[in-house]
Amino acid sequence: MNSIEIRSTILGMGISVPSRILTNFDLEKIIDTSDEWITERTGIKERRILEDGENISKHAIKASFEALKEANITPEEINLIICATLTPDYLIPSLSVLIQDGIGARNAGAFDLSATCSGFIYGLAVADQFIKNNPDWKILLVGAEALSRKTNWKDRSICVLLGDGAGAVIIGKSSEPQRGILDFVIGADGSYWELLTLKGGGSCFAPFDERLPKEEYYIKMQGKEVFKIATRMMEKIALELLKRNNLTSKDIKLLVPHQANLRIIEYLRERLGLPKEKVYINIQKYGNTSAASIPLALYEANKEGNLEKGDLVLLIAFGGGFTFGGTLLRW
Ligand code: UT7
Repeated sequence: MNSIEIRSTILGMGISVPSRILTNFDLEKIIDTSDEWITERTGIKERRILEDGENISKHAIKASFEALKEANITPEEINLIICATLTPDYLIPSLSVLIQDGIGARNAGAFDLSATCSGFIYGLAVADQFIKNNPDWKILLVGAEALSRKTNWKDRSICVLLGDGAGAVIIGKSSEPQRGILDFVIGADGSYWELLTLKGGGSCFAPFDERLPKEEYYIKMQGKEVFKIATRMMEKIALELLKRNNLTSKDIKLLVPHQANLRIIEYLRERLGLPKEKVYINIQKYGNTSAASIPLALYEANKEGNLEKGDLVLLIAFGGGFTFGGTLLRW
């Protein structure tokens, strides 16, 4: 079969988030902030946070089991596991092999993918290539983050934004060629790398190197600058995907954007001329969960009945690096 005729699609989805909820009012007690500021400037009301001793692999595994069940396949049928994350349990082993072991996917290869908040979109693009070359494969793609473990709780410019969670999808060949991933964009602009960093734990400095300030062991962001570039890039990717597929935003049934800031999402919605009901938002419950953000949103959008067979869905993400990406898919 010609590879052009093969389309990959989502066969099943699952999510899992920690049960511990940290509200804006809880944050008011530990840092100089307010529910009013956080709600107005970000749209976030609460986020999920791992308990001490609880690891994100647990949620990645739970989400994967749910996705397998929905796809009606066994762990042994999985050929590849891709885990998009910037906060694996450990640097060695990767989070993907912990998932492999946890679900018993003994026939699968496994690797982590590092593309910050765009990781899930990058993962879809990678999975799509594997399916086109190996149409019988089943791929488990997970976006999982333990951002609370890399959060500086003394830095109010960042700690109010982040949350933990995991979302998983099974990717396989679509039985209906018109449905599935139609197109994608992935991109990067490393010239902005210094605007969003997590330096501690990388190989520039040895562990406990005193030359590296303690704050560098946490995520740091120049939010205002990131905001400006994020809005510009997300609009650009969305328009590029629509244009080259001879579509307009009117054709989109649902936009599922990376949940970084409600104002960024609103800006994108307005620029694309989409009505509110065509944009899925759950940032109020989870905050920014980086690579887990889009699978958490897509899963909930579907469960809440926002998606019907044949709907055109646009996923758009942006993150540190900078990385960015979008996926156009027919549900
Ligand atoms: O996931 C991918 C990448 N991430 C993003 O896309 C995030 C992009 N950036 C943003 O979402 C926003 O820039 C933030 C939410 C991070 C910040 O919002 P902002 O409207 O850009 O605020 P700001 O940084 O300009 O700060 C405005 C004021 C400052 O006070 P002064 O200097 O005006 O007196 C801050 O000190 O708000 C203050 N502020 C806060 N006040 C209460 C900053 N953080 C807080 C806070 N609570 N948590």
